[in-house]
Amino acid sequence: MANLEEELQTRRTFAIISHPDAGKTTITEQMLLLGGVVREAGTVKGRKGNFAKSDWMEIEQKRGISVTSSVLQFDFGDKRINILDTPGHEDFSEDTYRTLMAVDSVVMVVDSAKGIEPQTKKLFEIVKERHIPIFTFFNKLDRDGRPAIDLVDELESTLGIQAYPMNWPIGSGKILAGLYDLYHKRVELYRPADGAKRFLPLDAAAGDELAAANALQTNPLWDEVKDEVELLQDAGNEFDEDAILRGELTPVFFGSALTNFGVETFLETYMDYAPAPVAKKTVDGTLVEPANPQFSAFVFKIQANMDPNHRDRIAFVRIVSGEFERGMDVTLKRLNKKLRLSNVTQFMADSRENVQNAYPGDIIGIYDTGNFQIGDTIYAGKKALEFEELPTFTPETFMRVRAKNVLKQKSFHKGVTQLVQEGTIQMYTAWDSGEYILGAVGQLQFEVFQFRMENEYNTEVTLEAMGAKTARWVNPDQLDSRMASSRNLLVRDRNGEPVFLFENAFAERWFKDKYPDVELETKL
Ligand code: G4P
Repeated sequence: MANLEEELQTRRTFAIISHPDAGKTTITEQMLLLGGVVREAGTVKGRKGNFAKSDWMEIEQKRGISVTSSVLQFDFGDKRINILDTPGHEDFSEDTYRTLMAVDSVVMVVDSAKGIEPQTKKLFEIVKERHIPIFTFFNKLDRDGRPAIDLVDELESTLGIQAYPMNWPIGSGKILAGLYDLYHKRVELYRPADGAKRFLPLDAAAGDELAAANALQTNPLWDEVKDEVELLQDAGNEFDEDAILRGELTPVFFGSALTNFGVETFLETYMDYAPAPVAKKTVDGTLVEPANPQFSAFVFKIQANMDPNHRDRIAFVRIVSGEFERGMDVTLKRLNKKLRLSNVTQFMADSRENVQNAYPGDIIGIYDTGNFQIGDTIYAGKKALEFEELPTFTPETFMRVRAKNVLKQKSFHKGVTQLVQEGTIQMYTAWDSGEYILGAVGQLQFEVFQFRMENEYNTEVTLEAMGAKTARWVNPDQLDSRMASSRNLLVRDRNGEPVFLFENAFAERWFKDKYPDVELETKL
């Protein structure tokens, strides 16, 4: 226990968010390379379009390293990094959102030719809402990109965040010469000649600037870059570590993941500023500090049937406080049930270790026989503890679901219950008929649901589109089921709470006019 504080201070737990194809997989690989986990990068070719597999599973297959679990742990310098995968699909899933509840900071990878794309924006909104510190990496500098000034301007205006460029590109595409590193006061050369220095210090006082200028004198962009840098220094934001930690200021880096340019500089600097594990709030509003010796943790993801040959189910658990020891006894708060944590796995990138000890910030995988639900708290010792509920995301699209074969009702119910518990999809029941209605944040969730029902529960399902709807929770005390109509269907959520599914904004306004006193609540 003596080294709890020391251990937790080394942890950096984060997720990488991006629009598909911006380079998340490539930069993850480069980080693994820098961490010494893999020896060669750039050989993983993504086979796109297979929703059942995450990009990381492909990395695992190609390399024989263990990442199936969507968590990667490796050491870099004196830090132990935990990267949590957020599936980078065109479509969203709640899984991605919830993963963001288990990290202490986020890296946003943006394609510098494309700028801020829709998915980045959506994920960013969640990050901002939770005040998670965010670090931006403009990728693909080896391609002709948009001017850096435009990119930073777009970042600030589209996402409503202040930016602080840590470095600045000297050209892009064919004329990429390097990075002007404002933070380290040096130039980092792109592909320096054999034997030449990669870093040229830029300390004006020591006359170094001249050396860098000389090295780049053939580059017509040098003067322009210097002007831009001057402008940033005079008129740009101040570097403010507290604002970074509050998620109000994003340090901005440039580079090219594919050619491994700027990634190391990024990772090193990121490790200096990314927060160590933070405290977490309980339902009664107290904060549980990571250095608190009482072990506590919460479930943020459940994944079933990762190996089709074994019907295994793993609960992904983020440690909040104390030290995890293999075989320890804990209480699962929701059921007030005692459990012994013996069959637990950790996700070192080079092996799937059976974990002995783990610390705040770490993710452990608990083999589960059906005890856990997403959002569950576990704790050791006598003092009961329950963390705030994880947010439920308001689904935007709905489908009626039935088993194609009526004789398959049993496996249909089992499948639906398990997949809903796992958080694959949300389920509602029609108020009167009890008919099942599925709700999702994105279309992909329905496809995954259908695929898994067939493959894992051997049940074909019929999905009948109901289209986009606006879900609004209604205060049960004010509810009269006669308020429902075809334009605002009344359903129950999984806790039995009443919800209206409005056909569109017009239907919602109409309802509000008619029942001005009825409170309608929205979730995140
Ligand atoms: P993702 O996980 O965010 O979806 O992106 P991923 O890393 O798979 O990268 C998407 C494509 O962009 C890949 O090419 C990858 O090689 C390329 N890429 C990533 N970083 C850079 C970079 O810094 N510069 C350049 N020029 N390209 C980069 P692809 O041809 O679409 O995929 P693949 O067929 O090679 O797998």
